[in-house]
Amino acid sequence: MQRGTFVGTYCGGRGTLVRLLCFTSFVVASALVLPVALRAEVEVTDFGKTADGKAVKAFTITNSKGVVVKLISRGATLAEWRVPDKHGKMDDVIFGFDDVAGYESKDNGYFGATVGRVANRIAGGKFKIDGEEYTLAKNDGPNTLHGGVKRSLDKVVWNGKPIKNQDGEGVAFTYTSPDGEEGFPGKLDCKVTYLLTNKNALRIDYEATTDQATPVNLTNHTYFNLSGAGSPTINDHELMIAADHYTPIDATLIPTGEIAPVEGTPFDFREFHKIGERVDQLNDQPGKGYDHNFVLNNQAGKLALAVKLHEPKSGRVLSVFTTEPGLQFYGGNFLTGAKAKGGKTYAYRSGLCLETQHYPNSVNEPKFPSMLLQPGRTYKHTCVYQITTE
Ligand code: BGC
Repeated sequence: MQRGTFVGTYCGGRGTLVRLLCFTSFVVASALVLPVALRAEVEVTDFGKTADGKAVKAFTITNSKGVVVKLISRGATLAEWRVPDKHGKMDDVIFGFDDVAGYESKDNGYFGATVGRVANRIAGGKFKIDGEEYTLAKNDGPNTLHGGVKRSLDKVVWNGKPIKNQDGEGVAFTYTSPDGEEGFPGKLDCKVTYLLTNKNALRIDYEATTDQATPVNLTNHTYFNLSGAGSPTINDHELMIAADHYTPIDATLIPTGEIAPVEGTPFDFREFHKIGERVDQLNDQPGKGYDHNFVLNNQAGKLALAVKLHEPKSGRVLSVFTTEPGLQFYGGNFLTGAKAKGGKTYAYRSGLCLETQHYPNSVNEPKFPSMLLQPGRTYKHTCVYQITTE
């Protein structure tokens, strides 16, 4: 185990007895005083190895309120988030696995991962830049989903370093995706920084640079259940999305290009609605429930509130702030009971993702905000997930 900050150097250079006394008082003082301080540090441990032998690290952060966040370096993944309910009872409210094998298994629906190079779908697994066509592997019917098959950003091991600033503690993950990886042009240098604050906000800052024009759309694919991961449903959660419009989809979940009003549809979450209230109206539609991109009202690129999610029994509230123009609300329609952390299973519609992003298939849809990154420019995206109680 290695800690982000080292605490025991101030007794050096004295005699043995003095050192012993000093060490003893340090241990006593630690027991009395330091646990609180120590808990605010990033703890780095070994999480295991990938099937091809790469070491995966786990980073555990505990803030001054006792809230715990665990991140792992495979996929720069958010693996655990323990938060109190309105009575102070702690629960882990996100999906994940106990070991690397779980994350590498077919049961892993991108749980907690950083997704890219292009999150969501690219129609036909093809796009053109300056007349040149690029072809990707298809992994979702006729389309490419979440950056490809073998070396998409959720599957590679990132380099992680603990960080600390006046707002909190966290981890900066970096990964360089070589030119041509998963069929994408250009070398892409990616950085994803997580920071847990003492206000129980988890801030995620994404950055990327390239040496050739290339599409970039990074997001986080955490599944939340505010009653605790493994609870049977999210249909009882109340959701508000600050979006007057959404992007309707075709049979393969590719946006048709239309920007449609939510008014009068089950996509109108401008006021709180229980997720289960209208979801069954979508059972026979593409996506088989909620699996749609919302056009956020904030299109200015400034950090603003996009979502509030409230679970009445626990009183937990998740607020999502973002600089991105879109939000994929995925209601867990393809979950089939994965066996996961602590022996829990994740049933149909028992977790939901709120993925801040550019709109799906933007690389082939000139009407949508562009996701093309040019050399010399920096892709930037901030998403803040904050969990409070009411
Ligand atoms: C997509 C779903 C997909 C899921 C995979 C979501 O982002 O919108 O269609 O099934 O990711 O876990």
